[in-house]
Order: sequence, then structure tokens, then C-alpha cells
Amino acid sequence: MDHGKVDQVPEVLLSRYEIEERVGVLAAAITKDYQGRTPHLVGILKGAWVFMADLIRHMDIDVTVDFLGITSYGSGTHSSGEVKITKDLDVSIEGREVLIVEDILDTGRTLKYLEEVLSVHQPHNLRVVTLLDKRSRRIVPVKADYVGFEIAEIFVVGYGLDFDQKYRQLPDIHVLRHTPLP
Ligand code: PRP
Repeated sequence: MDHGKVDQVPEVLLSRYEIEERVGVLAAAITKDYQGRTPHLVGILKGAWVFMADLIRHMDIDVTVDFLGITSYGSGTHSSGEVKITKDLDVSIEGREVLIVEDILDTGRTLKYLEEVLSVHQPHNLRVVTLLDKRSRRIVPVKADYVGFEIAEIFVVGYGLDFDQKYRQLPDIHVLRHTPLP
């Protein structure tokens, strides 16, 4: 495929086909676990929206959705763990079965923050699905209830994930660097 002006990122880590298959498996597990109920999916912007769009289309139960926009302070390497909300939730999560939808879990600082902030609003329960998990990078001991792929300490882009806001539109997940950002 001709990507036109998009810079080429040659190494594919996870193809669109592998991703679709795994997203289907995750959606089936979530469908089973929430059978007869209506989970409220909260997608964390920006990275998670591509994954979330595919995930809900593989699910076979009613869902409601909302989005929380966040951005890391500082250089954008998530090292500070300080997070600023850029778009708040539209509807109350009180009493709801909330499923946080993330693209990637790295140090865990963002998820820790999200769990603290959302718990204040008294959801019935709060679970997490992440497409990617860099478990070996964890600094804060958090974990997701549903994980698509565990990956090594590499820097990946595509399928919603960016570097400096680029590459989100790539259909596959590519390795941009074999070392993480500092
Ligand atoms: C990514 C991801 C998580 C966070 C995980 O967001 O979506 O929110 O980093 O990192 P952590 O576990 O080290 O806290 P990013 O800052 O890349 O923003 P984006 O989703 O807008 O691209």
C-alpha cells in the first residue's frame, strides 16, 4: 500500500490480522463476563480509540461508551506520572460497571491515577482492558483484567499509538525503536 507522505516504519510487530483475532478473543471474554449486564466503556484518549472502536464491534452485549481525554505533563514520556484531564466524562459513572479501555500499560502511573480519579465517583466496579502491556516496565503495581498482548520494552506505533502525534493511522503495530523512550 502506498502511504503517500506517511513515513515508512518497516518493522511490523503485530499485523492487523493478529490484532483482529486477539481483539475478537478479548471481546468474547468480556461478553461472557458481563453477560446480561451493560458495561460502561471509558476509552482513554487519544491512543485507545482505534482499539475501542474494534473491540465494541466484536462484543455481543449492550454497552455504553464515554471518553476521558488525558495528557501527561512534561515531555510526554510519561515519566512524571502527572496527568492533566483534557476532556472529562460526559455522564456519571456512579453505580455503573466501568471498563477502562487503554491502548498500552507501561509504568502503570496513568492507570493508577485513573483508578483513583474514577473510584471517587463510586462505580459499581472498575475493570481494565488494555491492548498492550509492557509488564516489565511497571513502576506502580497495577494490572489489567484483560490484556491483548504482552510486549517487550520497545517503542511501538500504529493502531492508535503515536510518536509525537504521528503514525496513529497505521493499521498494524510497528516497532519504531528497540528501546523505550527514557
Ligand atoms: C499512553 C497510554 C497510557 C499511558 C501509559 O498514553 O495510552 O495512557 O501512555 O503509560 P504509563 O503506564 O507509563 O503511565 P500517551 O501518554 O502516549 O498519550 P496518548 O494516548 O494521547 O497517545
